[in-house]
Amino acid sequence: RPAVSLPRLRDMAARGEKITMLTCYDATFAQVLDGAGVDVLLVGDSLGNVVQGEKSTLPVTLEHMAYHTACVARAKKAAWLIADMPFGAYEASPQQAFAAATALMRAGAQMVKLEGAGPIVETVRFLVDRGIPVCAHLGLTPQRVHALGGFKVQGRDDGGAAQLKADARALAEAGAAMLVLELVPSALAREITEALPGLMTIGIGAGVGTSGQVLVLHDMLGLTSGKKPRFVRDFTLEPGSGTVLPTAQAVARYVADVKAQAFPDETQHGY
Ligand code: KIV
Ligand code: NA
Repeated sequence: RPAVSLPRLRDMAARGEKITMLTCYDATFAQVLDGAGVDVLLVGDSLGNVVQGEKSTLPVTLEHMAYHTACVARAKKAAWLIADMPFGAYEASPQQAFAAATALMRAGAQMVKLEGAGPIVETVRFLVDRGIPVCAHLGLTPQRVHALGGFKVQGRDDGGAAQLKADARALAEAGAAMLVLELVPSALAREITEALPGLMTIGIGAGVGTSGQVLVLHDMLGLTSGKKPRFVRDFTLEPGSGTVLPTAQAVARYVADVKAQAFPDETQHGY
């Protein structure tokens, strides 16, 4: 398949074709996900949880992110590759963020993702003006889990929803091409997506009204222990029949169901 590029992704969003994204941290999965037709691979700092066994994403360093980005970059073919900027590597200044972004781009990232708005808006503009494609991240931003008081749905009250809308607009105006919306009411995520056609929104626990979807790989393969968040579906289990799908087929099912807007299902996975 032809390489996924920023213009191709923009074209998909404009045509209403849902963008498929999954997290990926190593070469073997990069090859499987790319082969199954996933549009975007995200080297998420969720690797702190699912690879390193940490309780949050806070201990993940820039060196860890660059290492896993390089592992994925060596094996992927057509998919677009995004790397997370880890906690502490970008918040201090636009200059600090630029240095971190260059390390991730050298490792093979085609776009970097950072969490939040406020002072981060200026940083987004600084990076975009210097040729670095940026994905923003609003709603539940795991690097701020302690400040937010836990993993809770964001933007539920009128004040929170208005702030989220204003933040999304500011990030789009600063040049962010993409925005992950995590744990946001479905109606709000749809409203933001429709209000900002130049911004590709990617939802996780944000309903079906976004430009695309993302899940943590280990969650959608049913490998994560403990309480499963409402927005997760185990794609290795064929609905109804109970048949267990091999990994590559489970990933292909995710791609097909996101494209067909059969995932997420509002009654099961939405807020
Ligand atoms: O780190 C991660 O996996 C993420 C996604 C959940 C969006 O940021
Ligand atoms: Na992340």
